[in-house]
Amino acid sequence: MNKLAHKDVLRADQFSKSEIALIVEIAREYEQALAAGRVLEVMKGQVLSTLFYEPSTRTRLSFEAAMLRLGGAVISVAEAKSSSAAKGESLYDTMKTVEGYADVIVLRHPQIGAAAEAAAATYRPVLNAGDGAGQHPTQSLLDYYTIEKERGTVKGLTVTLAGDLKHGRTVHSLAELLSSYDVRFVFASPAALRMPVDIVTRLKARGVSITETESLADAIRTSDVLYMTRIQRERFEDPAEYDRLKDAYVLTRSMLAGAQDGLTVMHPLPRVNEIAIDVDDYAGAAYFRQAANGLAIRMALLALVTGRA
Ligand code: NCD
Repeated sequence: MNKLAHKDVLRADQFSKSEIALIVEIAREYEQALAAGRVLEVMKGQVLSTLFYEPSTRTRLSFEAAMLRLGGAVISVAEAKSSSAAKGESLYDTMKTVEGYADVIVLRHPQIGAAAEAAAATYRPVLNAGDGAGQHPTQSLLDYYTIEKERGTVKGLTVTLAGDLKHGRTVHSLAELLSSYDVRFVFASPAALRMPVDIVTRLKARGVSITETESLADAIRTSDVLYMTRIQRERFEDPAEYDRLKDAYVLTRSMLAGAQDGLTVMHPLPRVNEIAIDVDDYAGAAYFRQAANGLAIRMALLALVTGRA
């Protein structure tokens, strides 16, 4: 039985390095199998339920494609408005119901801690596909996989996380996940959107090098990887504050003139204004490759947590 069998995936910092290596190894295997045109039946007879109480394109479609590519089936609640949550059903009751129908559950929810709460309600493995401004661990695994594929290794790299570091669950998870490796961080954000102090304190206590700056241009000059993020409009209480900050960082092609050779530009997507279209044909613009990498990583995760890999 693999180490992740029957485990939930709730936070990026739950993984040991050997677990991350295992996930990447299985992802690579599946990716090669798909590229070779092989039909996989690892999840045959299994059912995945995706419960998304917030919008999603990549995360939901890649999880569902992953299950289908492994020969499994999918039942889906795309938006809370079409499920009983709209009638006031508790997350607990929803999970007790869904566990009767599905072998594994993927949940996206607007509340921090919702995935942990869901996991506590059911004996089925729960994968956190984003809990509010909390965590997005499966995204960080595909981000890690992308950096390895683009750069050979994450070790020794300077990684800039830029944009809405306060509300961005992708950067919360990625900072935690990469902190086990030999990376230097630059956190670039407007003052109002800094990385939460508890995360910065935890990483510094582990001896991780962190530079905080408001200057995206300064960050670009020293980076090997530039991870841009969207200002998370849905997390703002005051729309005027969102309007003030929404265009804080817009990466354009001309700004990359100051970059080191081979800079890798990433973004979890969706982008709004953060990366101009003229960056898309920059050799290091990896964000659509990054999105594609979600498929293999999520195939690996589904097979591992159900004990099929
Ligand atoms: C992110 C999310 O939902 O947190 N998207 C994703 O899963 N790729 C990023 C975002 O919405 O800004």
